[in-house]
Amino acid sequence: MALRKICININGVDRMLICNPGQDSLADVLRRTGLTGTKLGCKTGQCGSCSVLLDGKVVRSCVRKIKDIPDYSKVVTIEGIGTPTNLHPLQQAWITYGGVQCGFCSPGFIMSAKGLLDKNPNPTREEVRHWFTIHRNACRCTGWKPLVDAVMAAAKVMRGEATMEDITFQTPADGRIYGTNVPRPAALAKVTGLCDFGDDIGLKMPDGTLHLALVQPGLSHAKIKGINFSEAEKMPGVVKVITAKDIKGTNRIMLPVTHPRSKADGFERPIIADTKVFRYGDVVAVVAADTEEHARAAAKKVKLDMEELPRYMSYLDAVAPGAMEIHEGIPNEYLRAPLFKGEDTREVLAKSPYVVEGSFYSTSQPHLVIEPDVTQAYIDEAGNVCIHNKTLATVFPLLTLAPGLGLPDGKIRVIENPTGASFGYSISPASSALAAACTLALDAPVTLTMSYAEHQAFSGKRAAHYSNARMGCDKEGKITGFEFDFAYDHGAYTEMADILASKAIRFAGFSYNIPNVRALARVGFSNQTYGTAYRSYGNSQAYTMSEQMVDMLAEKAGTDPFEFRYKNLARPGDLNINSYPFKEYPFVTLMDKLKPLYEEAKARAKAEDTPEKRRGVGIAFGGYNVTGGPNDHGEVALELNEDGTVTNYNTWEDQGQGGDVGTLVLTHESLRPLHLDYTQIKLVQNDTAQCPQTGPAGANRSHYIAGNAIRDAAKKLLDAMRKADGTYRTYAEMVAEGIPTKYLGVCDTTDITKDLDPNTGIGDPTPEYNYAVFFAEVEVDTAIGKTKILSMKMIYDIGAIGSQQAVEGQAYGALTHSMGFALSEKYIDNKDYNSLIKCGFLYADDIPDDIYLESVPSPRKTAPFGSVGCCEGFQSAGHVAVLNAIYNAAGVRIYDLPASPDKVKAALEAKALGKELKPDKYFLGSDLFEALDEIAENPVSAAGPTMAL
Ligand code: FES
Ligand code: FES
Repeated sequence: MALRKICININGVDRMLICNPGQDSLADVLRRTGLTGTKLGCKTGQCGSCSVLLDGKVVRSCVRKIKDIPDYSKVVTIEGIGTPTNLHPLQQAWITYGGVQCGFCSPGFIMSAKGLLDKNPNPTREEVRHWFTIHRNACRCTGWKPLVDAVMAAAKVMRGEATMEDITFQTPADGRIYGTNVPRPAALAKVTGLCDFGDDIGLKMPDGTLHLALVQPGLSHAKIKGINFSEAEKMPGVVKVITAKDIKGTNRIMLPVTHPRSKADGFERPIIADTKVFRYGDVVAVVAADTEEHARAAAKKVKLDMEELPRYMSYLDAVAPGAMEIHEGIPNEYLRAPLFKGEDTREVLAKSPYVVEGSFYSTSQPHLVIEPDVTQAYIDEAGNVCIHNKTLATVFPLLTLAPGLGLPDGKIRVIENPTGASFGYSISPASSALAAACTLALDAPVTLTMSYAEHQAFSGKRAAHYSNARMGCDKEGKITGFEFDFAYDHGAYTEMADILASKAIRFAGFSYNIPNVRALARVGFSNQTYGTAYRSYGNSQAYTMSEQMVDMLAEKAGTDPFEFRYKNLARPGDLNINSYPFKEYPFVTLMDKLKPLYEEAKARAKAEDTPEKRRGVGIAFGGYNVTGGPNDHGEVALELNEDGTVTNYNTWEDQGQGGDVGTLVLTHESLRPLHLDYTQIKLVQNDTAQCPQTGPAGANRSHYIAGNAIRDAAKKLLDAMRKADGTYRTYAEMVAEGIPTKYLGVCDTTDITKDLDPNTGIGDPTPEYNYAVFFAEVEVDTAIGKTKILSMKMIYDIGAIGSQQAVEGQAYGALTHSMGFALSEKYIDNKDYNSLIKCGFLYADDIPDDIYLESVPSPRKTAPFGSVGCCEGFQSAGHVAVLNAIYNAAGVRIYDLPASPDKVKAALEAKALGKELKPDKYFLGSDLFEALDEIAENPVSAAGPTMAL
C-alpha cells in the first residue's frame, strides 16, 4: 500500500497527516485525527452529516477523496468554530431553537449553515431551505423548521442585530422550567461535535477490539446448505468467522408472542441464521478482524451454498393458496384478533342508506435515520456481557437473549450510546444479540458499524398493511356501522406481532361514535423484512384505512368532510370501538379550533385552483394510547448528593425525543419545594447496571411512566428530607440521622387498565390517550401528478406540556415523516432500497415552512402534572390528511401508498376516461365473517401478563 504525506490546515493549524490516497476520504482523515465531530451517516453523499468547509466551500467530506485535496487546503470542522465555553452563534441557536434532537446531523448542518452565512449573511427562509437541499443536509428528527429558525436567529447575531444573550435560554425569575424551552442537557456536546455516537465510540475502543463485518447472502428465502470460510479466514487481519455453530445457546431471540390466538410463540428468530434465511438482510456469518476494512474484505470471500425457496414478498403472496410455510410448523397467517361491538354489521349496513367500501394498502415505511446501526459488545469488569448500541429498550436484551446466547440469567448489561435517532426500530434486540454472540465466541471486545445499506437491510420497518372495509351512515349522516378486515404484513419474524394486532382493532375509527363494528386484525409472515416499532406503531396503518373511509362516506352522504366528522365525533357518554368510554372527549373542541383555519384554507384553495395546479384541503383525526397498557411498569431512583444536588437514575432511553430533558423537567418540577436550580439535577441514564429499569421508550410511555415514577420517588425523598417545621434536611443531616438518601419511584398501570378480551376485542387497555386533528393544504400538478404540500396544521391534546421545545420538536418531525409516508417513502426488501434517496426521503425544499401547531390541553387524571407525552399521536394520521387533500384537489383517491407522481398521474388519466383506479378487494386468508364466526365458536382464555406497547 503506497501512502501519502499531506499537509492540511485544519481549524487554523497546519497539520501533517499520513493517509492512504487510494482509500481515504477527507472524513476518514479528519476522524482519525480525533475530529469526530464530523459524523458519518450514509457515506454516500446523501445526508450531509459529514459537511465541513473546504477552502470556504461546504463539502460532504465522506465523498471527497483525500487524493483530490491539494496540500495546504483549509478545512474548518465543527470543532473549529466554537467550544462549549465559547459557542458560535449557530451552535447557540441550534440549542435554543430546537435544532438538536438526536443531534447526529447537527455538526454537519451547522457547518453547512456557516458556509451559507459566510456567503449570504441575510438569507430568506426559502434560501436557507434551498441551501440545505442542494447540500443534501438531511435531518430526520426536526422537520426542518427549527433548523431554519436557528439559522435566522444566528444570522441576526452575526449581523450585529441581536446578542448571544438574546438567543440563549434565560431561566424564568421563579426558577421554574416546566413547560419552557429549557435546553436539552445533551445539546451542548452535540452542537460542538464532542458527543461520541456509536461509530465514534468504536473508533476509540482499546487495542484488541475486533471489528465485525456481516455476511448477508441477499436472498429473501433460501436454505443454507453450506458456508465455506476457509479463504476468508486466511485474509489479512482476520481472527475468526463466526457462524451459528459458534453460539452456545439455542441461537434464538426469545421475544414471546403471548396473544392466546397466536399460532406463533415468538421464538422463531435465530441470532445468526442457521438453517434458512427468511429475508434479504439476514446474516449467516460475521467476520471478525483487526480493522473494519479487513473484516469487510474477508466477508466478501465467504462462500455460500444456498438453495433458493419460493419468495413471498408480500402478505398477500404468503397467504395465497398453495404457499409454503415460511417458518415450518407455523401458518403464514398466524394471528387473528377480532372485534365485535354492537349488532352484526352485515345487517346494519344492509339497512343503511349510504355505504362505502374500499381496499387500502400502506407500504413498509423505512425509519430513515441518519446514523446507521452501530453496536459494541465486551465483557465488563463484573463478568457481564455488556452491549452498547442505539437501543430504545435496554430491558429487551436482558429479557430475551440469555438462553439464545447460552448465558445464565443476569449476565447481560445494556448501555444506550448517544443515538442518531431510531423512531422505533432499535427496540429490536437483534443487533445486540449479534454483537453479544460475537464477543462471546471471540472472547474479545467487538464493534460493528453497519454501512447504511446493511443497516437498511438488517433493521425492521413499519409493517405494511392490506385492508378491506365497509362503512355506512344513516340519512342524517350518522355512522351506523363499520366493518373491516385488516392484515399486517409482518415480514420474516414475529417481533411484537401481538401488540401490533391490537392497534387496528383499537384505532381504526378512533375518535368517532360508531355503534356497530365487526373487525378482524390479522398478522402474517412474508419474506419482507420484519415489522418493528415505528412512531405511531400500528396506528398510522389503521388510520390510512379508516380516515379515508370517513371522507368517502361523507362524500357519499353529500356532506362536507369537516361537518361529517363533527357530527360523528364522540361526545361524553359515547363509547370507543372497544365499548369503553374515552378518557376525555376533546374531539369537538379540537375541531372547533380547526374550523376557522379550515374555512380560510378551503376558500383559498378554491380561489387559487387552476386546471394545471389543483388545490385542495384534507382533514384526518388521529391519536394514540399512552403506555403499554396492562401490566406496564417502570422505576426511577432519585438520590440526594453530598453537594445538595439530586441525581436521577433511569432508563428513559433518549432517541432524540428528549429522554434527558423530559427527566430534567419532571424531576425539577417534582422537587420544587427544594428550590433547586435546574443545573443541580444530575442525570445517570440508560445503563442497566446503574439504573433501575424504566422500560422501553415507546408507546408514549416514557413521559407517563417515568414521570409518575419520578413523582413517586420525589415524594419519598421529600418526605424523608422534611423536618417537623416543614424545612428540609441537608445531605449531612440525613446521613447524621441515618436516613437513606436514595429512593425508588414506581409507576404501574395494572389496576387502571383492562386488556382486550381476545374473543371480543372489548377492553380498556390504556390509562390515557393523546389526540390530534391534522389538516393539509396541497397542490397537485396535473401534468406530472406531483403533489406539493403547501401547509400542514395540527391541533392536539396531550394535556400539559413539560418541555415546549421537545414537544414541538416531536410535532415537526412526526409531521415530516407523515408527509413522506403519504407521498414518497417506501421500502421493499431488496438491494434497491438501500439509501435515503432510494427510499423516498424528502429534503427541506419538499416540506412546507408553513406548519402550524396548537395545543389544546384538557385535564388528565392519572398523568404526571397532567401531561401524557406526545410523539406517537403526532405521527398517527397526518399522511391521511394529505391523501384526503389530494382527493379534494384533484378528485382522485390513492388507495395504496405512497401517492407518488406516477400513481397520481395514472389516477388522473383514468379519471379523464371516466374510470377510477381502485384495488380489488384483497384476499387476506379467509372470508372476514367466516373467520369471525370461527372465533366466536372457539373462545380462548385471556392472555397472560404481557407488556404491550
Ligand atoms: Fe457524508 Fe452522509 S453525506 S456521511
Ligand atoms: Fe437531525 Fe436527528 S436531529 S437527524
